[in-house]
Amino acid sequence: MEITEKSVLEAAAEYLIPVPLRLPVVVKGEGVMVEDINGKKYLDFAAGPGVMPLGYSHPEIVEVARNQVGVLTQCPGNALNVQVVELARKLAQISPAGLKRSFFCNSGAEAVDAAVKLAKRHSAKNGKTALGVVALEHGFHGRLALSLSLTGMTSRKKGLSAYASFPGVHHIMAPYCYRCPLSYPSCDLYCAQSLERFFYTQIPADGIAAFICEPLMGVGGVIVPQKEYLPKIKEICQRYGVLLIFDEIFAGFGRTGKMFASEHSGVIPDIMAVAKAIGGGLPLGGIVATEEVGKAFEADDHYTTFGPNNVMALATGLKVIEIIEKENLAQNAAKVGEYLLSELKRLEEEHMFVGDVRGRGLFIGVEIVKDRKSKTPDPELTKRLKQGLQERGILTSITGNYANVVRLTPPLTIKQSHVDQVIDALRGTIKGL
Ligand SMILES: Cc1ncc(COP(=O)(O)O)c(C=O)c1O
Repeated sequence: MEITEKSVLEAAAEYLIPVPLRLPVVVKGEGVMVEDINGKKYLDFAAGPGVMPLGYSHPEIVEVARNQVGVLTQCPGNALNVQVVELARKLAQISPAGLKRSFFCNSGAEAVDAAVKLAKRHSAKNGKTALGVVALEHGFHGRLALSLSLTGMTSRKKGLSAYASFPGVHHIMAPYCYRCPLSYPSCDLYCAQSLERFFYTQIPADGIAAFICEPLMGVGGVIVPQKEYLPKIKEICQRYGVLLIFDEIFAGFGRTGKMFASEHSGVIPDIMAVAKAIGGGLPLGGIVATEEVGKAFEADDHYTTFGPNNVMALATGLKVIEIIEKENLAQNAAKVGEYLLSELKRLEEEHMFVGDVRGRGLFIGVEIVKDRKSKTPDPELTKRLKQGLQERGILTSITGNYANVVRLTPPLTIKQSHVDQVIDALRGTIKGL
């Protein structure tokens, strides 16, 4: 049977547990381009999403993966391997000061789970009995039970009841300035202060193990907090003895123009969760914790078969970090990202339906609204924009609680000429709307 776009779509509809049946059907990738089953090429401005920092088929990644597959892919469960130790050492070197002890797993949701479990274990060892967790509205942490409970987007929780709303998980307001009735700076960071208010109005701080947030919120709509937000949150956490977890799963490894997004604020968490980019296309996640918090787990308190033993992914992860450093990809993300943001800001001035353009480095969102005054989300127009870009050979993704943010997260290797291509395609799409 000949495999065509139509046959793949039909088989997906018949045999897969329903997933969005989205075209294109991609068959290969090289650099910042992917190719579909019909031979059409696309510039990938979604990158996975956020999974391919080096683009596709980077020769050094191909070489490491090829070599490793012929030597050792999985380490016997009770044995150590070199790669796990070397990757942990490397993470300790590049992470914000003081983050040192790592654990590895397969995905972002697993990394978040490990981070929260570690925080709870540490809090219990330090005498807390109730072990709640506070997260943010509009935050996204994954789609398994705990990570979905932490997620502040009901669009992802439909019909799941307690599976997606664990007891002991709470949400406070997000630093989402565009949709906040107060204005910055006269708001005096009402959003950050809501953590302290929470301790007085809902659960006392001695019943909370940790506060978790993304230093730059991705799936919730590319929400960038004001510069004083994270320092204020850290100060409150420290004052009340609550651990701080940063979810850098999307923002980490150079995407925002620094190795980790928290570096823009200078705030160091107690635990950092990572995934996506570190695997360079292979499944890999992990956490890095301070010496003190990391040691709250005793040997065998936490484990997963394919995490610390998946030598293929660990070897690739080490190489991904080396290349991000060697090729100065965080700096490239900062430079090209600034250009992309400034070109998109021009569109914001020209078109009433572009409500807000925001982001940092190569982590950018364009919020689409019916008009700038009402700020009513326009998910239909957002879909048409994405579709128009795709017809012009540019892949992006749609995100946000109201499905009205076009998200641009290309590989960190893109050049200014790729941005020009995207802006031309956007202008062409807008003209044809
Ligand atoms: C910030 C953040 N945390 C967690 C996750 C979940 O990662 P995974 O899909 O690998 O489970 C995602 C995925 O998009 C994410 O963006």
